[in-house]
Amino acid sequence: MKIMKDRLIQPDHSFNYIKKEFCVDGIPLNKLADRYGSPLYVYSGTAIRESFSRLKNALTGMPIQICYAMKANSNLTILELFKKLGAGCDLVSYGEWFRAELAGMPRNLRVLSGVAKTAEEFDCLLQFPNAAVGSIHVESVMEFELIQLLAHYRQQKVTVAFRYNPNVDAKTHDKISTGRKKDKFGLTREEILDLCVNFAQDEFVNIAGISIHIGSQITKTSPYEKAFGVLSDLCDEVEDHLGRSLEYVDLGGGIGVPYHLGEKTISLKEYAALVKKYFHSKNRKMKKILIEPGRSLIANAGVLVSEVVYSKERGTHKTLILDSGMNDLMRPALYESFHEIVSLRDEDDLKIKKWDVVGGICETTDYFARGRPLPIEGLPGERIAILSAGAYGFSMSSTYNTRPQLAEVLVDQGKVKLIRKRQTLEALVSLEK
Ligand code: LLP
Repeated sequence: MKIMKDRLIQPDHSFNYIKKEFCVDGIPLNKLADRYGSPLYVYSGTAIRESFSRLKNALTGMPIQICYAMKANSNLTILELFKKLGAGCDLVSYGEWFRAELAGMPRNLRVLSGVAKTAEEFDCLLQFPNAAVGSIHVESVMEFELIQLLAHYRQQKVTVAFRYNPNVDAKTHDKISTGRKKDKFGLTREEILDLCVNFAQDEFVNIAGISIHIGSQITKTSPYEKAFGVLSDLCDEVEDHLGRSLEYVDLGGGIGVPYHLGEKTISLKEYAALVKKYFHSKNRKMKKILIEPGRSLIANAGVLVSEVVYSKERGTHKTLILDSGMNDLMRPALYESFHEIVSLRDEDDLKIKKWDVVGGICETTDYFARGRPLPIEGLPGERIAILSAGAYGFSMSSTYNTRPQLAEVLVDQGKVKLIRKRQTLEALVSLEK
């Protein structure tokens, strides 16, 4: 059991053992699972607040606006919490815009990215002044032309930025890299400069900035350094073409978090130093710098609580079968990503066994871990928590195998709140005929 305790401490300490019970901000997760059922997503408001202020403090002294990338976790209560902390938001669909609207996120602090924004979506947005967002991040020439056409047709002003694909390898998992030439995102330097030449003086479309987002779970500073360098050069060229200064740059998200306890990732101090060097120094001082963090604000502020349904022990091969599955948390199945798993009870006398931890979905890839040493006997009803599940956990979940989506609970400032009810089977099938 000793090794478990040492490995356990989450970076923000919100999830930890107290008197042999694994707790969130002092409340045993077992208690929450008794009350709200299993499987269950549980978030810590304290951990969210702490990660937000760590980032904000690291960047202090610069004109930074944090636009939380809500795709990481778009629960309305979580969005309200970020709004209270002063965050804007990065959106990737009209659906996310709708959530921002419900959560009351200030319209001028919303940026809208996405490669496939449709005419219907723009049409809805252009009913509002400045499309009810701070800026639209354009990802293709055709998209720009459509926005320009609609803005003129509706006689409505709209602010845009160009999402630049800087052809930089973020040195992260292949499936979450977004800034290489072969990736589908953004515009090339040439496309951006052409659009600047043709539309610098457009009556309705205001070209206000340039954005990048080179990938996610970035654990080294070198990709950022490369990307910031080429972005800063492009800013010079764009300003020459426009004949005026840009209003802002948006540096995207991507800051990596430790999934293995003790794992090294990018230091916020180093990240801030790079931002300063390229965008807040004598050479280039931007009026405004946006960043779009998702994972780094919430991954380690959430866990997925699950219960053992059965186990199978065949010699050395042991399989622990949980009541959750890849439909609830698909990161391990999709990216073979690692998540720490802990037992909710810290029993002294339990033997450590190496488990393949699996879900109940009819897919061979439905694994949370392989050969993981855990102090679990394998008895029905034993509970575990899968850590670092706050980002891209619930937001990527599905009802595959007709399994209802889970309940979500937020523990904040001593209060326990059910922030999403467990889906019922009736709700799950309600749109079908
Ligand atoms: N901005 C844009 C335009 C993005 O596409 C993303 C994430 C972010 C910001 C936020 O990036 P973050 O700070 O969270 O790294 N499902 C994957 C991650 C996909 C990220 C997609 N874009 C995972 O579970 O690892």
